[in-house]
Amino acid sequence: MRAPIILLLAVQASGQALISSDTAFYGESPAVYPSPNATGVGDWEDAYAKAVDFVAQLTLAEKVALTGGVSSGNGCAGRIPAINGTDFPGLCLSDGPAGIRGTNLVSSWPAGNAVGASWNRNLTKLRGVGMAKEFKAKGAQVALGPVVGPLGRIANGGRNWEGFSNDPYLAGALGADSVEGIQSVGVTASTKHFIANEQEHYRNPSGNVAAVSANIDDKTMHELYLWPFQDAVKAGTGSIMCSYNRLNNSYGCANSLTQNGLLKTELGFQGFVVSDWGAQHSGVASALAGLDMAMPSGSSFWGNNLIAAVNNGSVPESRIDDMAIRILSTWYKFSQDTDFPAPGIGMPSRVSGPYQRIIGTSPDSKEVLLQGAIEGHVLVKNTNGALPLKSPQLISLYGYSARTFDRYAWGTPGWNNGEEARSTADTSTTQIASNGTLFTGGGSGGNMPAYLSSPYEALSQRAYDDGTHLWWDFQYNSQNSQVDQGSDACIVIGNAYAAEGADRPGLHDDFTDNLILNIANQCNNTIVVFHNAGVRLVDQFIDHPNVTALIFAHLPGQDAGRALVSLLYGDTSPSGKLPYSVPHNESDYGALKNESLPVGIYANFPQSDFSEGVYIDYRAFDQQDITPRYEFGFGLSYTTFGFSGLAASVAAGANTDAYPIQPIVEGGRQDLWDVVAQVSADVANTGSVQGAEVVQLYVGIPNGPIRQLRGFEKVLLSPGESGHVTFDLTRRDLSTWDTEKQEWLLQEGEYQVYIGSSSRDLPLSSTLTI
Ligand code: BGC
Repeated sequence: MRAPIILLLAVQASGQALISSDTAFYGESPAVYPSPNATGVGDWEDAYAKAVDFVAQLTLAEKVALTGGVSSGNGCAGRIPAINGTDFPGLCLSDGPAGIRGTNLVSSWPAGNAVGASWNRNLTKLRGVGMAKEFKAKGAQVALGPVVGPLGRIANGGRNWEGFSNDPYLAGALGADSVEGIQSVGVTASTKHFIANEQEHYRNPSGNVAAVSANIDDKTMHELYLWPFQDAVKAGTGSIMCSYNRLNNSYGCANSLTQNGLLKTELGFQGFVVSDWGAQHSGVASALAGLDMAMPSGSSFWGNNLIAAVNNGSVPESRIDDMAIRILSTWYKFSQDTDFPAPGIGMPSRVSGPYQRIIGTSPDSKEVLLQGAIEGHVLVKNTNGALPLKSPQLISLYGYSARTFDRYAWGTPGWNNGEEARSTADTSTTQIASNGTLFTGGGSGGNMPAYLSSPYEALSQRAYDDGTHLWWDFQYNSQNSQVDQGSDACIVIGNAYAAEGADRPGLHDDFTDNLILNIANQCNNTIVVFHNAGVRLVDQFIDHPNVTALIFAHLPGQDAGRALVSLLYGDTSPSGKLPYSVPHNESDYGALKNESLPVGIYANFPQSDFSEGVYIDYRAFDQQDITPRYEFGFGLSYTTFGFSGLAASVAAGANTDAYPIQPIVEGGRQDLWDVVAQVSADVANTGSVQGAEVVQLYVGIPNGPIRQLRGFEKVLLSPGESGHVTFDLTRRDLSTWDTEKQEWLLQEGEYQVYIGSSSRDLPLSSTLTI
């Protein structure tokens, strides 16, 4: 909350009073100095020791050169130069979170929201491995992902799809798996955007208007926004990217509380902090506040200025040493000194070379790409036995997202990417990509398909194999489309577009809703599919009696069509679950539907107060007793599951003292990860086909939200088969953040535990007493 302050006011020509300086706010984000040095804790020891030796040989200018980007010219998003006379060849940093971007011979992996919908930890890790092989083949030592911020506080956030879920537990688990997968191949993960980059509008300063300030209290910060970053640090992420926004009125990359305090002290982070591109706005201040690498250019604020700052005593040389050590220890830790292609060797300007043949369509990656696309689909409605399809004779197919985009309509030649699905006719007032299948979103989080399997192409192939007739009508204005009354099924495929740089103008669009209604009015088996870059509301058509099925496909990557066909025909049973809630109406979100816009005296220092605390998405709907259309964690299968045998107990010999006491390792105090309690249950496949269920564990922590996700496991079962699932609850899982003590507090009391198939379908419950 803002403390009382003396405002410096100016009056605009309009007569509106504006704050003319934000110095009055500086006290609000507490100062934490000096910046902690890396210590080489845990498995960083060897790499750290090598980096210390190396850095001891370097001049001040050489050390400073490691901290700032130079113009790339080789297709990398960011580049650190080689140090002459040493073995250090420089670094190539490349986007993005769903596969390497801006180059050829690579794959379009399912985007973050599809990974979130899979709730599949092993698959997530394999995706990290597959993506990282492509980064390595292209000589990109640092992958700019995964995304765990934005978390997804606001429903219309333009980049929510790049991350996994707006639940911190799910986002943290999948973020950690991604980091482990990526780094197992020797590529450094740069987990981003740190922190509270929850909206795109006003993310950057412009003219005399500062970037939006996310004003977050300490408890909310720990229990929601920092949580998944903590998991990424615990998983060993080599890099963290600081964000564009301000945080309690101090810029993300110059915020000493978040970088020196939370990240490098409380979480014991050993790697380097890199600025988002252009997110550095000060030289000395950002250096002292813990920024280690400035991108895309070091010369704006650092470079010679940083050398001067050391020489005049404004920045201690030990801080520069620490920046260089952190950067080089990641290079050593992932064996990039001995086993890595030359930086950027396979990027666009150098398309020949020995490495580019190690591409993602290796048999292993192929399977992961397809399985990832399949498990990212969530079936939320299936009535009258609509799905799976049963030997249809005639299928009618509609909708602009069904077929591969028309390159000509997009206009500009270039690498294939998701933005091509966005026609030049689409303006910021429309919410769709009308030009073709939306397999990824726009901006730096987009990726490059090796090919695109669109639903139309995949259905055509299937029709050929089965002797089915496929009729289609993709005219843009297909509100007028006619339906052949002999159709066994009518499939309508639309999308919901989002791209970096803008928040979404809405959560459903009339054009697509009318398209669906027109078909539904004529076809009594209308199956709707969305390629959706975020939540897509459906109340405008979902209760139409002829709408028999609905699938949220999310952003599946290059196997979009093949995955959909596999599910439609029942080759695979759907197993995705919503990683967010779908409410009935926009109004259900209250203030959390849209981004914050500048108002009144704060107009040139936009403010976004996170006054809802931890109550976003299902935490808020549960608290306010709002029934969503489809709840968090929901998703149907072609089979049915039964739950039984819940057991919940404090783990034998567990320490249940109020506070953790052990030293800080990577990720925080070591005993935060001690198992304090265990919950187990059985799940059985009670239907007639094979299917996977995500067993979900929710816990009601005293004085907190009614329930919060604290465990999940996906179990594949044949008909009649059962599985036993055991969840370890750590000290952190059961604790709340104590703002006085500045530690996680394990309260004494009764904890409600629930097990089931979604956040609102929880047939098993029990009480755990601590
Ligand atoms: C985005 C980052 C991205 C960077 C480099 C920025 O605009 O916010 O996510 O990694 O550009 O392309």
